[in-house]
Amino acid sequence: QRLLETMQVGVPEGRVPARIFNDQAVYERERERVFGRVWCFLAHESEVPKPGDYVTRYIADNNVIVARTERGDLKASLNMCRHRGNMMCKSEMGNSSHFRCSYHGWVYKNSGELIGVPYFKEGYESKLDRKQWGLVPVRTETYAGLVFGTLDPDAEPLEEYLGGFQFYLDIYLKQGPGGSVVHGPPDHWVAETDWKICVENFSGDGYHTPVAHQFGFHLGYFPSSGATHSQGWAAHIPGKGHGIGLGHTPGMPPFAGYPPELVAQMGETLSPAQMEVFSKTRTAVGSVFPNLSFLIQPFSLVPGEPGVRFCTMRLYHPTGPGRMEMWSWCLVPAAASDEYKEAAYKAYTLAFGQAGMFEQDDFENWTRLTRVAGSSVAKHLEFPYVMGIEREPLSDFPGPGHVVSPYVTDTNFRGLWGTYTDYMLKES
Ligand code: FES
Ligand code: FE
Repeated sequence: QRLLETMQVGVPEGRVPARIFNDQAVYERERERVFGRVWCFLAHESEVPKPGDYVTRYIADNNVIVARTERGDLKASLNMCRHRGNMMCKSEMGNSSHFRCSYHGWVYKNSGELIGVPYFKEGYESKLDRKQWGLVPVRTETYAGLVFGTLDPDAEPLEEYLGGFQFYLDIYLKQGPGGSVVHGPPDHWVAETDWKICVENFSGDGYHTPVAHQFGFHLGYFPSSGATHSQGWAAHIPGKGHGIGLGHTPGMPPFAGYPPELVAQMGETLSPAQMEVFSKTRTAVGSVFPNLSFLIQPFSLVPGEPGVRFCTMRLYHPTGPGRMEMWSWCLVPAAASDEYKEAAYKAYTLAFGQAGMFEQDDFENWTRLTRVAGSSVAKHLEFPYVMGIEREPLSDFPGPGHVVSPYVTDTNFRGLWGTYTDYMLKES
């Protein structure tokens, strides 16, 4: 509590305690006060297109089944048998109209109703009301194909939660008719890293790119005009914790890395203001509070040649202090050609798949940083978050939120940690 009260004062002044990045008590409070209340990303609708399709994901430490029912709607339920609490579904994705518990054999429809109980007559003598013992439903709402769930019955509607960030989210999610869809299964791995470091980085850390990823430039995998890529904009939605960094590279043609017909299709689903922002953006890296991030990035499959722009969506799920599970998806425009989709998927895999070269650069740093944050002296120290602290917001930017330029700044991070502290301190 004292740490968070210090943080409440420190963040607006540009200070964040190291301890939040690796601490048992912080983790336990996050589980209740952040992940127990926010809208958590569960799945993209395109991952479960057919009746019976399902994926399993988490809200806090609760495993959730997201399934397409026989009627075609989406249902999310806790992956917990109501008899004695066994985890019923053991795979991460698949297709099944029913789930049967491997302990005593209770059977549920994928919509959650309990329909089968062994020895129902002989054992329970009809004293068990099956209607009462269906799977625990999880409240869900959807935005542009993204399915979110919350454990908080009083959580604000999803659209309100996303607020003005929808303007920026659409750039990732509404790329032409049919929107953006998931291509291939997600990469999924564990890391000895705190989830918050990843979110901070993906809220617009353009500062690390030329150093941590310098070999990407040296080897010619990052198409660049040679101009500094520190230019561009950082935008966050005050009070919401969502932030985006929009990197601009002077001299690069607008929409470089997208086929022209795809750009024309994007113009059908994005507004003129969104297209204007997108046209000036080389890299768009943003996060929905607390732990869902996106990145659009050009990448050259053949070093030195013009790149292809790919989009990745990633989720950082905390599993303990300084420990997390990571999911990473490739998103492609539904309307794009198969050729573009394959090229984008290759670029994504090489750059930000599980063994992607930039993914490795980042986790190498994040893992060590996490370890140090838990050390006896470091855990009592603070970090400076003063970059751009006196920078005035722009009044003429086409997109919403608090927008500053250039995007190398801690502005978005102060917004992120302010929202985080509010959730952690709020009793209800
Ligand atoms: Fe599932 Fe007993 S725990 S049937
Ligand atoms: Fe990085």
